[in-house]
Order: sequence, then structure tokens, then C-alpha cells
Amino acid sequence: MRALETFPDIPRVDGGVVVLRAACDADAAAMAEGLRDARVQRYIPGAPADATEQSLRRYIREGVPAYWAGGSAAVFAVADPASDAFLGIAMLTLPRQLPDIGEAVLWLSPAGRGLRRATAALRTLCRFGFEELQLARIEAFTAVSNRAMRLVGSYAGFSTEGVARARLLDPSTGRREDAIFAGMLPGDLQP
Ligand SMILES: CC(C)(COP(=O)(O)OP(=O)(O)OC[C@H]1O[C@@H](n2cnc3c(N)ncnc32)[C@H](O)[C@@H]1OP(=O)(O)O)[C@@H](O)C(=O)NCCC(=O)NCCS
Repeated sequence: MRALETFPDIPRVDGGVVVLRAACDADAAAMAEGLRDARVQRYIPGAPADATEQSLRRYIREGVPAYWAGGSAAVFAVADPASDAFLGIAMLTLPRQLPDIGEAVLWLSPAGRGLRRATAALRTLCRFGFEELQLARIEAFTAVSNRAMRLVGSYAGFSTEGVARARLLDPSTGRREDAIFAGMLPGDLQP
């Protein structure tokens, strides 16, 4: 297993129609706008709707490198390979007690959606997790109502393994929602 701490720099990972790369200062405005999106707020627990460009620049310069250096999360910006424009965030969080198991989290800004780039981003993230980090398994939780993510997850190679009842809180209504608990093993990743 390769620990995140051993990467001297956040790598650039080619994913065909997307690239995963280190977030940079120039992403802050698009990131702030993406975080305010209603679907990101609904489906990404803890996504800060009130993040400012300034607070995000601090997150990009200090928070993200600290996650990598501490081995707790591989955080990438999803970008357009031609223009390098920021499209969203893809990350693998690695629990300290189970360091060979990752949890995948992905969001794209509304302008970047609907072009099947989410599947490419998720696949590239999982390929990085299996090939570079030698993870044994990657998990994902997705709200039952989140049709796009459920489809994208299954196209990437995730299988539904169960239902986690009341796993997610919808901050706009205060209601809890069941989540699909999905998992992927190295041989499941779709090319
Ligand atoms: C979830 C999310 C990343 C999906 O991104 P997206 O750009 O909306 O998804 P895509 O358009 O690439 O994929 C969904 C659609 O493409 C289709 N699709 C995706 N990959 C495909 C493939 N390889 N082959 C065929 N169809 C595919 C899906 O069937 C679906 O089709 P539809 O047109 O019938 O809806 C995005 O909606 C988002 O950021 N949502 C808010 C945050 C969130 O929910 N994150 C997940 C929490 S775990």
C-alpha cells in the first residue's frame, strides 16, 4: 500500500475527458459557486454554502495539502483537460483505522454536468485509488433520490451492497434520507 504522505506533490491524473489535478487559487471562485449549488448542498454532507473565495484559497493552499500530508484524504480538482477550467471536486477519504479502504466523494458544478464527465472523474479517482494507493476496496454513499450519482456509480463499476437508513440529512428540509451503500473492488472498475 502506498501512503498519501509519500506523494511529494499532488499528482495530475489523466482521465480522458477530465483531468484530476491539484486545486489552485484560480479555482476558488468556481468552487465557491459550485458549493452553493442546491444539489451539492443536498447531497454532499458538510459542503459549506457560505465558503468565500478567500476561505477557499486558504483551504486550497493549506487544507488540501494537509489532508494529503496527514494521509486522511486524496483531494483533487476535476478539470477540463483542454482549458484546465475547474469542474468540481473528486476525493477519496481514507479512515485511519482502515487505511486500505477509501470512500469516494464527487461533485461537479452545474455547468460541468450532463456530459458524462462524472463517470470519467469517478473512474479515474477509483483507478488512482486501486493502482497508486493499492486500496482493497472503495465505498460510496449516495442518497436514494440521487439518480445521477447512482447511475454514474454503476457505470464506473460500483455495486449496491445495501441501504443505509436515514444516513443523509437534507439541510434545506431538515429531513433524513436513506442512502445506497455501494462498494467497488479492484476487478470491478470499468475501463
Ligand atoms: C452526481 C453528479 C456528479 C453527476 O454528474 P452529471 O454530470 O450530472 O452526471 P452525468 O451526466 O455524467 O451522468 C448522468 C447521466 O449520464 C448517463 N451516463 C453516465 N455515464 C454513462 C455511461 N458510461 N454510459 C451511458 N450513460 C451514462 C447516465 O445514465 C445519466 O443519464 P440521463 O441523461 O438519463 O440522466 C452531479 O450531478 C453532481 O455533482 N451532483 C451534486 C453532488 C452529488 O450528488 N454528488 C454525489 C454524492 S456521493
